[in-house]
Amino acid sequence: MEPLIEAKRITKDFLQKEEVVHALRETSFAGFPGEFVAVIGPSGSGKSTFLTILGGLQKPTTGEILLGGSPYSRLEAKSRSRIRFEKIGFILQSSSLVPFLTVAEQLRLYDRLRKRPHDEARIAELSKRLGVEKLLRKLPNQLSGGERQRAAIMKALYPDPSLVLADEPTASLDRLKSREVMELLRSETKRENKLTIMVTHDERFLDLCDRVCEIEDGVLSEKTSGR
Ligand SMILES: Nc1ncnc2c1ncn2[C@@H]1O[C@H](COP(=O)(O)OP(=O)(O)OP(=O)(O)O)[C@@H](O)[C@H]1O
Ligand SMILES: [Mg+2]
Repeated sequence: MEPLIEAKRITKDFLQKEEVVHALRETSFAGFPGEFVAVIGPSGSGKSTFLTILGGLQKPTTGEILLGGSPYSRLEAKSRSRIRFEKIGFILQSSSLVPFLTVAEQLRLYDRLRKRPHDEARIAELSKRLGVEKLLRKLPNQLSGGERQRAAIMKALYPDPSLVLADEPTASLDRLKSREVMELLRSETKRENKLTIMVTHDERFLDLCDRVCEIEDGVLSEKTSGR
């Protein structure tokens, strides 16, 4: 099977007050459809840097990212953001919802920007699985933390991206709700054959992941193949 995304010997340096921070040291990675991958590691070790480079939000200093076998990180910003919009769903710690639009309006906005028909059937089916049917007409600030996180997952998955990138998606939730959200991410990954890569601080849920990668001081290593 072809990898969906590949990091080929990427590094990332930041210049901070004339000092170079090596946020990522030479790192290679390949992710495949249907995998639920966790990325763990101490604060400041380079997890978010890794995830945002995979997602094309920033470029690596050296090396490159291939998405579906094609160069991705080398594209200019405009083409990169078009591909990102269609192929990648982001779930972030602080919710990725637009504050002044209801959940349903955010899905409509996506379709309008993408100039594609609104898919009521997918909304009905997905919102049922994610348990957000009753939340569609609400604004983000009318939702609880757990509801907001499920709505954010709805928003990320509705476009049917092949790659889902999540940065601490359960950071603001209690244990029970965290496990629920993780289980949802896992089951959607399997059901729709997506690749989900999730940064997490929470090692209690690693049993749900197929692979665990650890980043320490900018160096990524594969810890286990979970299941
Ligand atoms: N835009 C930036 N400019 C300068 N330095 C940065 C930038 N982004 C990240 N860094 C540095 O790179 C290193 C890795 O940061 P990163 O955000 O990837 O860590 P992290 O593992 O996600 O940490 P946390 O668990 O706290 O979110 C840190 O030393 C950070 O200070
Ligand atoms: Mg981070």
